[in-house]
Amino acid sequence: MTESQKRQVRELLEGALAREAAEEQTLAALFYSQLFKVAPKTRALFHNRLCVQEVKFTQMLEALREGLDRLDNLVPILWQSGRNHKLYGAQSAHYVVVGDVLLWALEQRQAPVPLTEETREAWQAFYSLVCLIMQEASQAA
Ligand code: HEM
Repeated sequence: MTESQKRQVRELLEGALAREAAEEQTLAALFYSQLFKVAPKTRALFHNRLCVQEVKFTQMLEALREGLDRLDNLVPILWQSGRNHKLYGAQSAHYVVVGDVLLWALEQRQAPVPLTEETREAWQAFYSLVCLIMQEASQAA
């Protein structure tokens, strides 16, 4: 990832997290309601109460934002998470849908200003990296 891509992803995540207080629905709630709408079968994989999962979701976004500056710190966290996700039953196709829904939720937070093509590409580069590490770990587990 280039420095410019990292900056764009950072701005996207920080912008969305900063708007939390002003919104009726948390970003996490927006994400899960959309995920279960477009991929209803994933609902059965989640055993935590949704409010607990939503806290984890927000912590995860913060960890990703911090990890942008320290990818070396992020790798072991994602590796462990990838191993956990194998146990949760997450499959390759799920990672694609989760990535799409996450970007959709971040874009909603930026509405009415649409994401630029550059930001979209920066996000894809970052998300691909995250998925690559998690899925490698899942296959190695
Ligand atoms: C890049 C992608 C993803 C990230 C960063 C992520 C992050 C997380 C985090 C931080 C947790 C909390 C527990 C833990 O750390 O293991 C979690 C739990 C979970 N995630 Fe993900 N996740 C991702 C993709 C997915 C995908 C593709 C699925 C499949 C539908 C999924 C399903 C779950 C489930 C089922 C749980 C556990 C819920 C429970 O304990 O009931 N995640 N995820």
